[in-house]
Amino acid sequence: MLAIAASFVSCCGNKAADENACENKNETAMNTTMNDLLTRRSVRSYTDEVPPMEVIEEICKAGTYAPTGMNRQAPIIIAVTNREVRDRLSKLNASVFGPDNDSDPFYGAPVVLVVLADTTAAFTWKEDGSLVMGNLLNACHAKGLGSCWIHRAKEVFEMEEGKAILRDLGIDDTKYVGIGNCILGYTAGDYPEARPRKENYVYWIK
Ligand SMILES: Cc1cc2nc3c(=O)[nH]c(=O)nc-3n(C[C@H](O)[C@H](O)[C@H](O)COP(=O)(O)O)c2cc1C
Repeated sequence: MLAIAASFVSCCGNKAADENACENKNETAMNTTMNDLLTRRSVRSYTDEVPPMEVIEEICKAGTYAPTGMNRQAPIIIAVTNREVRDRLSKLNASVFGPDNDSDPFYGAPVVLVVLADTTAAFTWKEDGSLVMGNLLNACHAKGLGSCWIHRAKEVFEMEEGKAILRDLGIDDTKYVGIGNCILGYTAGDYPEARPRKENYVYWIK
């Protein structure tokens, strides 16, 4: 999505001749955005392959451009491509279900982008973090990758082991609360279909 928007911006000069082309490109970018928003689904089966770092960086960048209350930019993203740390986070996440739980709540995804938010930066820290999560999920889809919001980041970073990860990165563990984990990678198997939308999702006042 970002790449398309960027290429649209760069094609626009002041010449009248460019205008039609720019309009068409703008329309294409809009259609692509709408299509991505409607077709993104939560993926729960992945290959082991780590996507290229540049792609993960672009996805993170999309996260950082989410709107935030008063532009306080309360959220942060911890981008984990390191297998050992990814596995540790998965184990901590599973332990929220109980000490004997040995599932992989990350469904084999090789990368996890953890979103936390600084509770002292803005009253809207939770909303801000959720919008970052939304951008990340949609950016993954725009880049042809599967993704899913995995919960329990709050509980994981309330644990001593989770707090230690924050401190190792120089993050103040007393200020930040986990919002969610955006797992990502290449989808294995069929891409899920959307379930029907409920009745009366939208109420109109015209
Ligand atoms: C706040 C939130 C928490 C979620 N937590 C989990 C989770 O822990 N594990 C999981 O498999 N999916 C989780 N999901 C994904 C939802 O189950 C998924 O978005 C929903 O079923 C709709 O499917 P779709 O994303 O394909 O449209 C979560 C989604 C949200 C928004």
